[in-house]
Amino acid sequence: MRLAPSIPNHSPPISETNKPEKVCIEVHKLSLQLSGKPILHDVSFTIPSLGITSLIGPSGAGKSSLLRCLNRLYDDWKGNISMNNTPIKKWHGGADVLRQFVGLIAQKPSVFPVSIAENVTFGLPRQQRQQNQDELIQSCLKQAALWNEVKDRLHTPANTLSLGQQQRLCLARALALKPAILLLDEPTSSLDPLSKELIECSITKLAISMPIICVTHDLDQAARLQGQVVFMCDGKVIETGESHAFFTQPKRIETREFLRWSVCECAED
Ligand SMILES: Nc1ncnc2c1ncn2[C@@H]1O[C@H](COP(=O)(O)OP(=O)(O)O)[C@@H](O)[C@H]1O
Ligand SMILES: [Mg+2]
Repeated sequence: MRLAPSIPNHSPPISETNKPEKVCIEVHKLSLQLSGKPILHDVSFTIPSLGITSLIGPSGAGKSSLLRCLNRLYDDWKGNISMNNTPIKKWHGGADVLRQFVGLIAQKPSVFPVSIAENVTFGLPRQQRQQNQDELIQSCLKQAALWNEVKDRLHTPANTLSLGQQQRLCLARALALKPAILLLDEPTSSLDPLSKELIECSITKLAISMPIICVTHDLDQAARLQGQVVFMCDGKVIETGESHAFFTQPKRIETREFLRWSVCECAED
């Protein structure tokens, strides 16, 4: 039997009403079909301008698809997504510019076959890559909690790093573009405990100054990250809440079942 995750007792509530004071992302009645199959149905929620939102739910719930809508990798959806009150379909400069504003880190780290340092600057325009970027490289690697492990071998191939280090390198590469929002798709799945802890620590620090949405299948991690939780199943949002209240007093029976058994039966209704 799966027990609800242990809650850190210092967990601060965001607000009593679960309505963030300053909304950064607003998703309203988002629906998505892929290959004619409905994937997301009428998804609505808001993300505050600071802090972590954990996106949880069973496999196939539509979590990764939702992240792809948020940075317009999937663009053929209905409804509205606004960031800082601007609908992302009307983003000045289009989807490419939006993707610099909204960094997405995929579940599987994909480092490029170049050095560690070059991986960090890989997404920068060519002109900037040719300039001295030592400070930027150092600062991004520090923010991604990787600097100490690689500072003496910045010019060695990135594929010599462990999986956990590669995931942190992907985080550093995303940070080099100075995104205003970070979307992380299961950033610590299949990582060793130390890398997991380092990534959690790093995103907790980053969330002091930016909003982060983190898809995770690890309920203990969602509780540790605190902030807000959005629970999805079968392409729908079932419940949202401030982390402490969500885990200790879930409102919906589907949520209670999911927290206890890691399953949700709404897909079978
Ligand atoms: N390109 C696609 N075409 C058709 N169905 C897809 C495609 N990508 C994902 N799906 C389906 O969409 C559903 C949600 O997938 P996904 O967003 O990856 O869920 P999660 O990340 O919650 O596991 C799944 O049923 C999956 O099979
Ligand atoms: Mg997924």
